[in-house]
Amino acid sequence: MLSTPPFPSTGYQGLTMSDEKQAGAVVVPLTRMSADEIRRQVSGAYAKVAQAETNGDCCGVESSCCGVSDDSQINALISTRLGYSVDDLIAVPRGADMGLGCGNPRAIASLKAGETVLDLGSGGGFDCFLAAAEVGLAGMVIGVDMTPDMISKARANAEKGRFSQVEFRLGEIEHLPVADAVVDVIISNCVINLSPDKPQVFAEAFRVLKPGGRLAVSDVVATVEMPPELRDDPQLYAGCMAGASLISDLEAMLQQAGFVEVRIAPKDESKTFIKDWAPGRGVEDYVVSASIEALKPR
Ligand SMILES: C[S@@+](CC[C@H](N)C(=O)[O-])C[C@H]1O[C@@H](n2cnc3c(N)ncnc32)[C@H](O)[C@@H]1O
Repeated sequence: MLSTPPFPSTGYQGLTMSDEKQAGAVVVPLTRMSADEIRRQVSGAYAKVAQAETNGDCCGVESSCCGVSDDSQINALISTRLGYSVDDLIAVPRGADMGLGCGNPRAIASLKAGETVLDLGSGGGFDCFLAAAEVGLAGMVIGVDMTPDMISKARANAEKGRFSQVEFRLGEIEHLPVADAVVDVIISNCVINLSPDKPQVFAEAFRVLKPGGRLAVSDVVATVEMPPELRDDPQLYAGCMAGASLISDLEAMLQQAGFVEVRIAPKDESKTFIKDWAPGRGVEDYVVSASIEALKPR
């Protein structure tokens, strides 16, 4: 996700309300925008993150379920806070850890050698490369992301790290470029909250999973309804906060898609870093990071 602190001085390169205001443009709250417009805005914000990291500029989306820094040490700090080990950080190509997550989905995925894994919103490929080490050369990892600059970055990282069993595909998680019933495990880190059509994401996840396949996701969820001044803030949407759904709504969406054994575990301790994503806005009173698990029946 994209956050303000710990980089308050870097300036937000994503959805900048202030730039639009300065230009005299009318600022339309994201929640009143069409789904396509939301995707365009979100993709634009993450394209800037990918470009900034590639160019070595710093960066900054003011709101980070994502630290958003090109400083690998800062990203390492963010990621260890999310539960990644130092060994994880050194096992991936430099630049793959962009500090954009809000948890560690691999920790709940129980990956096994030979499995096929799909990462929804794969960014620079961080979780894909870690998953690849677990499924081995007999397995396969597919990362899907709608932002072309992220896909380019992830593919370059795969080449750097010689990950022959990892493939990155450009596409929307609401319309997955993946065949029916071919995936054992779906992982995702801080992405589904960004989707304007979450029921469609879960329907697609269900379609591509094999019978008995599982979902192991880290994401931001809402514990109570957010007030409109937070919910309608485009910066907080791209920053993985304003688009978060209520836990009860997510449970209903997953069940509606056909999933069973749905378990959503909010992590209260995540408030300590979520408050840094938008300092002073009080978002931590409404959203937390959670692990989301579910099964496709056999
Ligand atoms: C917060 S970043 C997380 C990246 C990665 N999962 C990580 O932890 O480093 C969100 C990523 O999801 C992608 N994304 C957001 N909405 C998407 C959608 N509807 N379909 C596909 N990708 C999407 C963005 O392009 C971005 O790369």
